[in-house]
Amino acid sequence: MQIKIGFGSGKGAGPGKSTGRKNAPTPRKERQSAPREAGPGRVEALLKELDELIGLAQVKELVKEIRAYVEIQKRRQAEGLAASPMSLHMIFKGNPGTGKSTVARLLGRLFKELGLLTQGHLVEVERADLVGEYIGHTAHRTREQLRKALGGILFIDEAYSLARGGDKDFGREAIDVLVKGMEDHRDNLILILAGYKEEMEYFLETNPGLRSRFAIHVEFPDYSVDELLKIAESMLKERQYFLSPEARAELERIFRRETVFGHRYNGNARLARNLAEKAIRRQAVRLMGRAVLTREDLMAITKEDVAGLAGARHPRNNLRPVGANLQEPCQICYNDPS
Ligand SMILES: Nc1ncnc2c1ncn2[C@@H]1O[C@H](COP(=O)(O)OP(=O)(O)O)[C@@H](O)[C@H]1O
Ligand SMILES: [Mg+2]
Repeated sequence: MQIKIGFGSGKGAGPGKSTGRKNAPTPRKERQSAPREAGPGRVEALLKELDELIGLAQVKELVKEIRAYVEIQKRRQAEGLAASPMSLHMIFKGNPGTGKSTVARLLGRLFKELGLLTQGHLVEVERADLVGEYIGHTAHRTREQLRKALGGILFIDEAYSLARGGDKDFGREAIDVLVKGMEDHRDNLILILAGYKEEMEYFLETNPGLRSRFAIHVEFPDYSVDELLKIAESMLKERQYFLSPEARAELERIFRRETVFGHRYNGNARLARNLAEKAIRRQAVRLMGRAVLTREDLMAITKEDVAGLAGARHPRNNLRPVGANLQEPCQICYNDPS
């Protein structure tokens, strides 16, 4: 549950070292981001990357605190003062597409550079990757994921679903193994439980033993229309496209309409990404028949490429109910199942 400051030794401070990775089953949603080489400017580069993410004030504040803490602990250590361990297990609360996985991945890389984790990779799992079908199966699967995440972050999406099904459900077994894992590997593993705000709060309320182990709670609010526009623009810019002023105004109108309902799939960056990608495809179709194309033509997303993008597939009376099958693409916000 607690992380000792490793002061950039790069060595595993904790008892657990990852071994025998090879034969481990790959969970459906697992993503492992390979950390890049450490270097003098890496922390600054990662902080810049974080800073460039739109919004996310709480996350940025948290990182500032942790970074300062690490720095001051080093100075204290140099003076022979006691270094206090810090618990870095976290709860992420927010709707889909609000940046939870993106932030977790970035934190892993950053914590590695700060000497808080030895690997900094992210292992992203969900209930199905942890919970098995018979007695003992769950403990085995959960331990396996803990082992894979050693030196990095174990990120459990929709973590509240572990409490689904009551006392007889194997989810409870997974929770017990996770709690033990956080203790055993407290020096070299960070556990992040993520999910919808209300569900996570209820989950923690009904599992007080779990709640007391998470000192850091971060909220990921829905993005505002302005933030969504900025996100879409930065995605386009990254791909060397730009929005014409009319296209921007049209996109703003779409975001405004899509986010007024306050349902759980609105206000998310995935919507911005999906609309941006769709606009790029539409632009390609628009340009196909033309013989002469300037550099500007190739880069510009015009109103035509954006017009009606969301409306046609987003009937207002067809809001997706909470608990709908998330594996199906969302007709409202173009959520992909990932
Ligand atoms: N603040 C942000 N700035 C820019 N892009 C973002 C931001 N938050 C999320 N995204 C992008 O939106 C998409 C969905 O984000 P993700 O982290 O998967 O959300 P979540 O895990 O909360 O469902 C990703 O493509 C990500 O790059
Ligand atoms: Mg996610």
